Amino acid sequence: LFADLKRNARGQPLYLRLRRVIEDAVDGGLLGPGDALPSERDIALQADISRVTVRKAVSDLVKSGVLVQRHGSGTFVAPRVERVEQSLSRLTSFTEDMARRGKTVRSQWLDRGVFAPSPDEMMVLGLSAKELVVRMARLRIADGTPLAIERACLSASMLPDPERIGSSLYAALEETGYRPVRAVQRISAANLTGQDAELLEVPPGSAGLRIERISYLASGRVVEFTRSIYRGDAYDFVAELRLS
Ligand code: GLP
Repeated sequence: LFADLKRNARGQPLYLRLRRVIEDAVDGGLLGPGDALPSERDIALQADISRVTVRKAVSDLVKSGVLVQRHGSGTFVAPRVERVEQSLSRLTSFTEDMARRGKTVRSQWLDRGVFAPSPDEMMVLGLSAKELVVRMARLRIADGTPLAIERACLSASMLPDPERIGSSLYAALEETGYRPVRAVQRISAANLTGQDAELLEVPPGSAGLRIERISYLASGRVVEFTRSIYRGDAYDFVAELRLS
């Protein structure tokens, strides 16, 4: 793929030529979604160019969303995202939503622990200063594609040890008898930047959706306060409207 790069560059800067070669390989199907790109070193050797040049071409392609970089595992052709159509009228969990579509869910824990509640958490969750909160942050992945980052806080009294929460929060709440039955959800626009963009494998500045959910028990007690960032290129939220 890269052997004749220099010869075919014809005066073009080499990083632009390399960028074009990779783009053509992706467009022409030679490199498919999810395929690994050879290492920086191998490309530099094959094309007989410097690693700095390779790095520049690759980082341009990451910025434009053609390639994605995963820490520790390399650079890949960005997976094609199938948009998820998500109903706004049912209280379901991420795991249930994806299972219904036949997708395999994996969550990467970013953070979890038990803490003294902040004033905001005390207010939203209705806790006293003596009670504790569980905070958990997860990257939610379906069929290998990262779709959302979810940061939840809940009263520690409703959950087992956070280390023992499996892949589904709602399944854990079902077990402790605190599965919520109602929620208020707020959706607003956000641009994905920094670490969020990196985790979601989208170019910095891409469109995202900020989703806040406060869910309740039948008694009116608050269960969770979750702040999430969803990929804008992966979700359609759909609600049925009736004349009432
Ligand atoms: C959705 C909601 C979250 C909720 C989560 C539970 O993604 N936006 O507020 O916490 O579902 O999902 P799971 O049971 O898969 O952890």
